[in-house]
Amino acid sequence: MAIPKRYALLLLLLFCSLAVSTAQRKERWEEEEEEEGERRYGGGQERMFMLEKPMQVVKGEGGEFTVFRGFKRRETATPMHIGFITMEPSTLFIPQYMDADLIFFVRRGEMRIGWIYKDDFVEKHLKIGDVYRIPAGSAFYIVNIGRGQRLQLICSIDTTHKKGIFQSFYIGGGSKPPSVIAGFGTRTLTTAFNVTEEVLTEILEGPKAGAFVPVTRPDLLRGWVELMNRKHNEMRDEEINGSWDDEEDKEEVLSVREEEKEEEEQSSALWSWRKLLNTVLGEDKKKKKKKSSPSSAVKAPDAFNIYERDPDFRNNYGWSVAVSHRDYSPLRRSDVGVYLVNLTAGSMMAPHFNPTATEYGVVLRGTGTIQVVFPNGTSAMDAEVREGEVFWIPRYYPFCQIASRSGPMEFFGFSTSSRPNSPQFLAGRSSILNSMGRDEMATALDIDAKRYDRFRGSQREEIILPELLMPPEETTTGFIAERV
Ligand SMILES: *[C@@H]1O[C@H](CO)[C@@H](O)[C@H](O)[C@H]1NC(C)=O
Ligand SMILES: *[C@@H]1O[C@H](CO)[C@@H](O)[C@H](O)[C@H]1NC(C)=O
Ligand SMILES: *[C@@H]1O[C@H](CO)[C@@H](O)[C@H](O)[C@H]1NC(C)=O
Ligand SMILES: *[C@@H]1O[C@H](CO)[C@@H](O)[C@H](O)[C@H]1NC(C)=O
Repeated sequence: MAIPKRYALLLLLLFCSLAVSTAQRKERWEEEEEEEGERRYGGGQERMFMLEKPMQVVKGEGGEFTVFRGFKRRETATPMHIGFITMEPSTLFIPQYMDADLIFFVRRGEMRIGWIYKDDFVEKHLKIGDVYRIPAGSAFYIVNIGRGQRLQLICSIDTTHKKGIFQSFYIGGGSKPPSVIAGFGTRTLTTAFNVTEEVLTEILEGPKAGAFVPVTRPDLLRGWVELMNRKHNEMRDEEINGSWDDEEDKEEVLSVREEEKEEEEQSSALWSWRKLLNTVLGEDKKKKKKKSSPSSAVKAPDAFNIYERDPDFRNNYGWSVAVSHRDYSPLRRSDVGVYLVNLTAGSMMAPHFNPTATEYGVVLRGTGTIQVVFPNGTSAMDAEVREGEVFWIPRYYPFCQIASRSGPMEFFGFSTSSRPNSPQFLAGRSSILNSMGRDEMATALDIDAKRYDRFRGSQREEIILPELLMPPEETTTGFIAERV
């Protein structure tokens, strides 16, 4: 047992109370979610697959975290949420953990992310285009290190709960946002930490800067570090001093304690937190340099840069790239894929469907249209989209994206499978219609085989198709029967 009893008790208390407080929050979320779902589905359907009305998780002078909540449908057992984090230069997003897997995409700027990987503390430097995963329950913090530049992140929030609720647990912080530890009540805490109410109040209500703290004001977090340090030393002393029957016992226990101390550094959540906080404040730097034994050098996975990857497909009308777990193995653990598409003005991602995953997308640049079709062949959505808007496409539903004529459209997103996806195209040279037997298709469409040949041969491009400069009289294709 590496964690001393008192730590274990403290941690147990911590988690019990978390469970209670999140259970209460959960109920509230559920209610909201249902209401929201009804409102969205009951009303007009023209923007049915857009995720609208972002929820503000936290906002402060230094930054903002908003989330577009995905919602439940038969096709998506646990919805994914899409989060946007914006941070001003030299700002720290305080240490926290979430009950959801996060996959970050650095849209703009540069950052440092520190987190607990395999019970050790690691830190990574991420730049524009990087994709990086933080698993559920791993504590992390983010610092914007871009010189005078705002940091913009897009992340997928993949809940581990069946109900699809997610929650941030702030460890640092004070009155706003409250630290999770504050949830215990004064008596429990004064006992657990063995401090006076006065000290406790100072710690829990001290920092008022919110979730985004200027790194030039590390004093806002110092209280926490001091508390952790003090309590850690006291707890250790007390255990060693304890009452011993004879010196031999004490010797033995002390030597065991020394071993435990090493393990403890690896496994105690409090220790990890202390290290995390110390690093935020730059106090661990000196120690770290000295301590460079190979055993302590845990190597966290590197980031994957999506802009440095060669596109999977490219023609004159645009390109697309999909990142699967073959490219970036951490994606396998979350079972989430990442993609990026760039269409030139007026071009279209040919109508297709995804047989293995639901897709979520964010328009990064430009404007365009997204069309989604119901299984019964009627239009489900034909919506104009612009930068910053979020859409989702249920698995199996046919859809296409069309860039407006005014300029290129770039969109990025996540899919609910980390395997290389195999979109099935319904039009273009690589269409599944073309792979099927010609006579059978002609029969199925009830047209002459020669006419069918002309029909299927007329589009010579595939996947990303050029704009039709002279639209034919009949614009209705088989795929989009009518607009709602
Ligand atoms: C609590 O702290 C006081 C002094 O600050 C110390 O005398 C006492 O032994 C501590 N109790 C425990 C249980 O750590
Ligand atoms: C434990 O004993 C050491 C000396 O052996 C002493 O300095 C320290 O204050 C004691 N700690 C506690 C909590 O009693
Ligand atoms: C997308 O394509 C446009 C031209 O169509 C280009 O200007 C832009 O840089 C491309 N975006 C990326 C990320 O390569
Ligand atoms: C097609 O399916 C959608 C959704 O299930 C439904 O709302 C719509 O009425 C259906 N249309 C027809 C013509 O059956």
